[in-house]
Amino acid sequence: MIIAVDGPAGAGKSTVARIIAQKLGFLYIDTGAMYRAITLKSLEKNIGAADEAKLIEMARSTDIGLVNSADGPLKIFLDGRDASRLIREPRITRLVSDIAKIRGIREIMLGLQRKLGRQRDSVLDGRDIGTVVFPDADRKFFIDADFKERVRRRHKELIEAGQGVSEKDVEEDLRNRDKIDSTREFAPLKKAEDAIRVDTTNLTIDEVVEKVLSYING
Ligand code: CDP
Repeated sequence: MIIAVDGPAGAGKSTVARIIAQKLGFLYIDTGAMYRAITLKSLEKNIGAADEAKLIEMARSTDIGLVNSADGPLKIFLDGRDASRLIREPRITRLVSDIAKIRGIREIMLGLQRKLGRQRDSVLDGRDIGTVVFPDADRKFFIDADFKERVRRRHKELIEAGQGVSEKDVEEDLRNRDKIDSTREFAPLKKAEDAIRVDTTNLTIDEVVEKVLSYING
């Protein structure tokens, strides 16, 4: 079974997708983490977002591994080393949407995501899972929330993770990424026609999980 969970940043998508996967005993595949890993490597190799051919060549020879743990967060390995923390740094967040809009990069990630998802029952979270990666997914969700609430949540998350960013910076980041992600030419962020929209603005994580699970089991 494939469960697709899409939506913009800060809507609670990743948290919900991870909990659902744990509860069902499914593999959790965080596709955003893959784009973040590629972005990290591009910075390390000093390849700019405009140098598409080089980036694509780099992505082709990159090994990205996802390791699920029983109750903790997902671990992301970039060419064999644990990059779970580094990929969440603001310098990655600032750049990731410009890398993720490149067609050749998306094609490579798509292949990897399909390969992983076909191995086992999986929950995938991202922007284009229900529309492009697994258009025939068994269940599709589009997790959304008001812009202001998404900013508030992401800011709180970053502060708790020890990243001293201002709410204004978070607001700018989300606005910028929402725009790039939803207007790009290939696989833009949008709700699949047959996805169930869940507005999480006034819901707790537990309530969202319960709602999503009831649709899955129903
Ligand atoms: O956690 P957050 O919502 O901040 O972002 P993420 O899920 O880690 O994704 C980071 C970025 O990767 C997004 O802003 C998109 O530009 C890109 N992405 C994408 O293009 N397609 C996906 N399936 C997942 C992420």
